[in-house]
Amino acid sequence: MLTPRITRTLSFASLAVLCCTSLSGVGAAHAQSDQSFPGDPIAGRRIFVARGCDRCHAIWGNGGTLGPDFALVGAGRSLQQLAGMFWNHTPQMIGTVQVRGFQWPTFTEQELADIISYIYYVKLFDEPGDPVLGERWFREMRCIECHAIGGEGGQSALPLDGYARYIAPLMLATGMWNHGSGMQAQQATQRAPVPSFRGREMADIQAYIREVSSLQGRDVVFLQPPDPNTGRDLFLAKGCSSCHGPSGGGTQSGPDLRSATQLLRVSEIAGTLWNHSSRMAAAMRARGIAFPRFQGKEMADVIAFLYYLRFYDTGGDARAGEAVFAQKGCARCHSTEGGVSIGPDLSQSDAILAPLKLATAMWNHAPAMYTVIQLEHVDWPRFEGVEMRDLAVYLRNLEAGQ
Ligand code: HEC
Ligand code: HEC
Ligand code: HEC
Ligand code: HEC
Repeated sequence: MLTPRITRTLSFASLAVLCCTSLSGVGAAHAQSDQSFPGDPIAGRRIFVARGCDRCHAIWGNGGTLGPDFALVGAGRSLQQLAGMFWNHTPQMIGTVQVRGFQWPTFTEQELADIISYIYYVKLFDEPGDPVLGERWFREMRCIECHAIGGEGGQSALPLDGYARYIAPLMLATGMWNHGSGMQAQQATQRAPVPSFRGREMADIQAYIREVSSLQGRDVVFLQPPDPNTGRDLFLAKGCSSCHGPSGGGTQSGPDLRSATQLLRVSEIAGTLWNHSSRMAAAMRARGIAFPRFQGKEMADVIAFLYYLRFYDTGGDARAGEAVFAQKGCARCHSTEGGVSIGPDLSQSDAILAPLKLATAMWNHAPAMYTVIQLEHVDWPRFEGVEMRDLAVYLRNLEAGQ
């Protein structure tokens, strides 16, 4: 049996392999369309290593320990919230960078987008499930009455040993989704309740299958990294958008999916999809829509799309942003009406043209600002919640002269 420690390492290895075998880039090919997701998580991973972030930050325990583990940081926060968290930690970084003689890592806008996207993306991958719990769910959900693993269990459906090739529960979820109607029919005749998944139960079952499967010659199959851009195309092509709207915002025939992705890991989103599959199938039948099946990594892509729905939080309140600008002390050094000031007049700066430009300029200037802030005895401004978003809208309007 694999110890949890080894399983973690394995899973990180899988992430690394995912990321390095397909350097052809998720975002690059899509960068032209402004509909697409700006950051490329695969490129972000390269930057993460190249700029030495891993000297202080780990992913699932692999890497430095001075800063928090990124597998615990990114989930559920929008790009701008993550940019705010980035900014908040600059004083600690500047301090450590000076003491250890590292160079301040500056970024281009694209690089910052890539790395933030990577921090967010890492969280999409589950920490491997717990095989002991998985055995329990496999019994309690009565999977074992119909399916065998490792020679033990019912014979009325195919054994599930083959799924031991995968680490993440995505192919298991795909199998269940595609065979859902047949499975549910048999469950009805055997009076077994249709199982419904909560939390990480699906990941646990996957871990259990990996542990007891009799599959020989186990070459682990590494799926290509899920790609939210492909996922969006599939979301349209499979007809999901006809009920949930093209951006997942919901229509009269299907709910808003942005809140569904508050459950933030692959296994949780996969579980949600499964839990609703029978009612969705009924809704589809009623409208004469064929039940869409998934192949290969298609479901992973759709899940990545759903997961990224929350990442690009738009909107923002300029008046609230003006208050942020005053409260955080920005106005003390940055005049917005000309005149003498310590820092540049931001209404004349390119930095305010887009939220990502602002975050990049702030990050790159952080050491210079840090010096002035210490001389002026001002507290380092920190951002919480939607403050960064509101600030960006306020500053953007300065340029427009509003
Ligand atoms: C010299 C050590 C060090 C390096 C190098 C470093 N960090 Fe950090 N990082 C930290 C520390 C320490 C914290 C915690 C700071 C705090 O609690 O405010 C942190 C926090 C963070 C956070 C906020 C996490 C949270 O939960 O609020 C982000 C995001 C982050 N770092 C990103 C990066 C990125 C990206 C890089 C590479 C460009 C990087 N860090 C390089 C030490 C470092
Ligand atoms: C009442 C019997 C029954 C129960 C209980 C049951 N299944 Fe199934 N399952 C089936 C049948 C029958 C099929 C094949 C359906 C078809 O192809 O139309 C199937 C198909 C599958 C597949 C696709 C297999 C393949 O060949 O790709 C997976 C994966 C799966 N089930 C997982 C599960 C899991 C996990 C559970 C418990 C949460 C479960 N099943 C509970 C009867 C059952
Ligand atoms: C015919 C209309 C229809 C189509 C097509 C459709 N759905 Fe749904 N979807 C629904 C309805 C209705 C619900 C709510 C079902 C319920 O309450 O159990 C739902 C629920 C969901 C949920 C759970 C939402 C939540 O808040 O928990 C997800 C995730 C989802 N759908 C994703 C998809 C995906 C992905 C596709 C394409 C493969 C798709 N849907 C296709 C109608 C549809
Ligand atoms: C103690 C003074 C001080 C405070 C407070 C301060 N800044 Fe700065 N800021 C500076 C200085 C000085 C520079 C120029 C640094 C350089 O040239 O590298 C600068 C540069 C910038 C830039 C880059 C401008 C450009 O054109 O490249 C941006 C954006 C910025 N600050 C935003 C902010 C925001 C937003 C706040 C409030 C959260 C803030 N600053 C608070 C002093 C300050």
